[in-house]
Amino acid sequence: MILVTGGAGYIGSNMVRNLVKNGYEVVVLDNLSTGHKEAVHPDAIFIEGDLQDRESLKTVFYNHQIEAVMHFAANCYVGESVLQPQKYYENNVIGFIHLLNEMIEAKVTRLVFSSSCAVYGIPKQSVIDENTEREPISPYGRTKMIAEKVIEDYSEAYGLKHCILRYFNVTGADLDGVLGEDHQPETHLIPNILQHLQGKSHAVSVYGVDYDTPDGTCIRDYIHVSDLVEAHYLSLKKILGNPPENRVYNLGNGRGYSIKEIIQMCEKVTGKKARVIVEKRRPGDPPRLIASIQKAVTELKWNPKNDMQSIIQSAWDWFCKHPDGYEGEKR
Ligand SMILES: NC(=O)c1ccc[n+]([C@@H]2O[C@H](COP(=O)([O-])OP(=O)(O)OC[C@H]3O[C@@H](n4cnc5c(N)ncnc54)[C@H](O)[C@@H]3O)[C@@H](O)[C@H]2O)c1
Repeated sequence: MILVTGGAGYIGSNMVRNLVKNGYEVVVLDNLSTGHKEAVHPDAIFIEGDLQDRESLKTVFYNHQIEAVMHFAANCYVGESVLQPQKYYENNVIGFIHLLNEMIEAKVTRLVFSSSCAVYGIPKQSVIDENTEREPISPYGRTKMIAEKVIEDYSEAYGLKHCILRYFNVTGADLDGVLGEDHQPETHLIPNILQHLQGKSHAVSVYGVDYDTPDGTCIRDYIHVSDLVEAHYLSLKKILGNPPENRVYNLGNGRGYSIKEIIQMCEKVTGKKARVIVEKRRPGDPPRLIASIQKAVTELKWNPKNDMQSIIQSAWDWFCKHPDGYEGEKR
């Protein structure tokens, strides 16, 4: 049985669906702070509980024969982490350490961990491999880096076997149209553009058009959520294998798109025209962030299948079918 923390969230719910499809029994632990119960696969056992509540964690490990943990539960807004670092250190670091301690106590020694390209901060090179120095510039990025270091120490001392996955920008909706991205507030580019094109906001803001890039806007690497989840599945199989190996992988598409290119692609897919407002650069936004994904491609025998058109089409289809997000499913 696999424990998925944050399994009611955007990425976690897609992971649960993938695991159930692959024949795994799944327990989801989620406090529903940003997740949606409607997104949890009906065949998974859902426990409403909090990482920061040691007793509910103990009960999960006591009541279920957990083979491995896939840890998605976290707070993940960079801007909010600057304003409320306490919330981020308490949840992403202290909450995570509670989880690890209960795992060790219950002799569960396999972990797949959601990390982020935010651990790299503003790297000198634009194509980033896993050996790039970790120099995060936000409290959010620092919580992920600290969590990675705790994992390394626990591995050394207690034999924790792990796979750390550093995601770039995760986007798109599952290709069956069941699960999508429904964050309140939404801070990610593609859902924001698409929701604007649905008439939910008056414009799309672009922060800086004078970067040293071909069209002056920032270039980022985007990965479809289903491709990301597939890499998690392969990572899980790797750490459940014998002998398990500790790994760190970047997960992205390995190619960059500028903000302007994304807006144009959204306009093409939807047949609608966006109203764009040019704003000042945001501090700490590097011109280019592109993942080197060679290590994951070679070692996991994984390849992202969805290009930008398919990413945007899947997200648009979901937004059209669920104009009120998961709220609409409660009725
Ligand atoms: N979305 C991205 O582009 C992206 C990029 C890099 C890394 N990540 C990481 O991936 C993971 C999942 O991100 P997401 O986009 O699905 O976010 P999300 O907010 O949709 O999902 C997080 C889930 O965790 C739950 N949760 C939070 N704190 C909890 C706690 N203390 N106890 C129990 N449940 C708790 C929330 O209710 C939610 O369901 C996070 O760890 C995030 O840092 C996401």
